[in-house]
Amino acid sequence: MFLQRLGLRDYRNYREVDVTLEPGVTVFVGRNGQGKTNLVEALYLLASGKSHRISTTAPLILKDCERGVIRATVVAQDRALLCEWEINREAPDRIQMNGNASKSGDLARALSVVMFAPEDLTVVRGDPAQRRAHLDEIVSWLFPRIRGTLVDYERTLKQRNSLLKSLRTHSRSTPDTSTLDVWDEKLVSLGTDIFAARLATLALLAPRVSDRYRSIAGADHQPELAITPSVEIAPENFGDYATVFTQQLTAQRTVDIERGQTMAGPHRDDIAISLNALPAKGYASHGETWSLVLALRLAELDVKRREGPAGDPIVILDDVFAELDSGRRELLCQSLVDVEQVLVTAAVRDDVPASMVAQLITISGGAVVPTEEGAQT
Ligand SMILES: Nc1ncnc2c1ncn2[C@@H]1O[C@H](COP(=O)(O)OP(=O)(O)O)[C@@H](O)[C@H]1O
Ligand SMILES: [Mg+2]
Repeated sequence: MFLQRLGLRDYRNYREVDVTLEPGVTVFVGRNGQGKTNLVEALYLLASGKSHRISTTAPLILKDCERGVIRATVVAQDRALLCEWEINREAPDRIQMNGNASKSGDLARALSVVMFAPEDLTVVRGDPAQRRAHLDEIVSWLFPRIRGTLVDYERTLKQRNSLLKSLRTHSRSTPDTSTLDVWDEKLVSLGTDIFAARLATLALLAPRVSDRYRSIAGADHQPELAITPSVEIAPENFGDYATVFTQQLTAQRTVDIERGQTMAGPHRDDIAISLNALPAKGYASHGETWSLVLALRLAELDVKRREGPAGDPIVILDDVFAELDSGRRELLCQSLVDVEQVLVTAAVRDDVPASMVAQLITISGGAVVPTEEGAQT
């Protein structure tokens, strides 16, 4: 698929902009802080329901405005799809697809985007929460119903935790834990679905990460991706996850009440990323970490390309080339030659390898600048 037109109104540092794009590579060039990332972030927001930089939508609205609007026309298999997202400061957001009221999940299902960004380094180096968020985004794309399951799980977890806290404060003697049974049952049911969907996603992803990494770094390298469950369960027993999770919740009740927190469940799982049998976090060099990040995103591209009904995902490379050495730059270019559309942001054209033939669009101060630089190269 490809983005044919992107219109922004009162969004980030854009008052009003309307760009028409073509398949192939488009490079948005401009000095730092001009609005290049803001532009591609708008497409990412439509496709994933959130920004890759922030967790709330209020900062997306132009300063002092009540609402911001993103309007994108995406063409997939010769069919145009008009996606609109009105971000409101006070009222609920309004999302439409071809003029019909929709939800962010509907947009996410219709669009397919893979974004590479410097923030990706946190997938390898950051907290387990960042790795879970990375995986869950792909999980939600592959299994759309899990989007709701994740929300329900978080809500149930909060309710269970507040009950734990009230049991801690209110009954010093033997607490009546019968309502806890109800929350446990719900948590196990939702948690088991999440765990299974994550496993299924990793099963698709892991071999591709491995292949992609070796094509970047050489055949003698062996990256591995595996879920580290907080529920104590060996991989050969993953089929009994619900039973083991229930047993553990029951066994750990006293500890959970003492801490006022649920100590086991998918919300505390990690995804272990290792390289040649050493954990990537703490061991991998800067270059190796970037190779891992590229392999993770390229594997996501492979999965979305294979599983997606609407063809190639749109690939976004946000300020990525400036982070890579020339070898990795070339490898990334080669890996993307046959992708239908690639949107690149860069401070200078020279950051992008010359081998990447591109349409150039100059961005300055929240506006598209119509200069000769904008011409085809
Ligand atoms: N809601 C907003 N209202 C006005 N300006 C904003 C808003 N959000 C971000 N900006 C501005 O956008 C600029 C950053 O744009 P960005 O796309 O990240 O730059 P770059 O071109 O380096 O990728 C900053 O100057 C920031 O102050
Ligand atoms: Mg940027």
